[in-house]
Amino acid sequence: MEVRDPLPGRQPHIPVLLTPLLKEVAPVSGTWADGTFGAGGYTRGLLAAGAAKVVGIDRDPLALQMAEAWAPDYGPRLVLRAGTFSDLDTLAGEPLDGVVLDLGVSSMQIDQPERGFSFQKDGPLDMRMSQQGESAADLVNHASESHLADILFHYGEERASRRIARAIVEARKEPITTTLRLAEIVAKCLPRPKPGQSHPATRTFQALRIAVNAEFSELAQGLAAAERALKPGGKLAVVTFHSLEDRIVKRFLQLASGAEANANRYAPASQSVTPRFTDLSKAIGPSDDELAHNPRARSARLRVATRTAAPALTLDPSRIDVPLLPTKGRR
Ligand SMILES: C[S@@+](CC[C@H](N)C(=O)[O-])C[C@H]1O[C@@H](n2cnc3c(N)ncnc32)[C@H](O)[C@@H]1O
Repeated sequence: MEVRDPLPGRQPHIPVLLTPLLKEVAPVSGTWADGTFGAGGYTRGLLAAGAAKVVGIDRDPLALQMAEAWAPDYGPRLVLRAGTFSDLDTLAGEPLDGVVLDLGVSSMQIDQPERGFSFQKDGPLDMRMSQQGESAADLVNHASESHLADILFHYGEERASRRIARAIVEARKEPITTTLRLAEIVAKCLPRPKPGQSHPATRTFQALRIAVNAEFSELAQGLAAAERALKPGGKLAVVTFHSLEDRIVKRFLQLASGAEANANRYAPASQSVTPRFTDLSKAIGPSDDELAHNPRARSARLRVATRTAAPALTLDPSRIDVPLLPTKGRR
């Protein structure tokens, strides 16, 4: 099937932090999983840097269809799999030398109004990366006021969450079906932004996108899947785009490296853990040069760690700062 380039004449997605990532994980060899294939920028970078094979995974069918034009150039070195990175160990089907996750949405998704991620251009209120399941419009028009407020507060750190949720419930007597209508409802609840400040609907759109795509549970399960799949000495590299995501990755790696138990000299001996990850990098941000070429890299942070030979453990999401919503009163 021929797939139209959604952004003809433009680069579909500029890979973020790829240069520092390749430097941190060097030397690259063996089989890698790219759990967020997108436009394939990381995958091509890994193949060029020496990976024998990359399994490219994406939950967005359009991302994989677009790659059909060039993926055959790599022959058996590139395998594409539709699915979520929470299943990356099963989808890869073999022990891995490295895993990369570049979280969030791609420029291809944001820049296509019909995907419903953007408050800059009008489109249907959709936001589903996989194009399946409950859309943002379903959530906004049917969730209870308190559930909406919880989503905005816990997933978007929106301090005006209750005010915005009330305004949404008031406005949805006429169903809210487009991105610009939602953006206007939110904007009316907040002070006008000063020059240089982000659009007032930024936090609301982030929160709804996270809820629609279950992004936090995906991240927690994706980290656990990477732990199961990586060989001893294998590399995990994760790029996040906001502080809530970065905190989850940081916490996961701290716990998995045994930093917490080893720092507590009062912990009983049974709690001392054999590290499952070691050699944790600091959070690495974009260089001035990268920022000048790609302002979308502004909030990106890279963390890298190396898997040890210790057996993988079952993950408890509550221990790695995954924001949990109250379960009562969702509808
Ligand atoms: C920021 S883009 C990745 C861009 C890619 N690194 C590149 O250089 O082209 C994120 C991609 O990951 C996909 N994605 C997000 N969450 C996912 C998940 N849980 N499982 C699989 N794919 C996911 C999105 O559909 C999107 O295509």
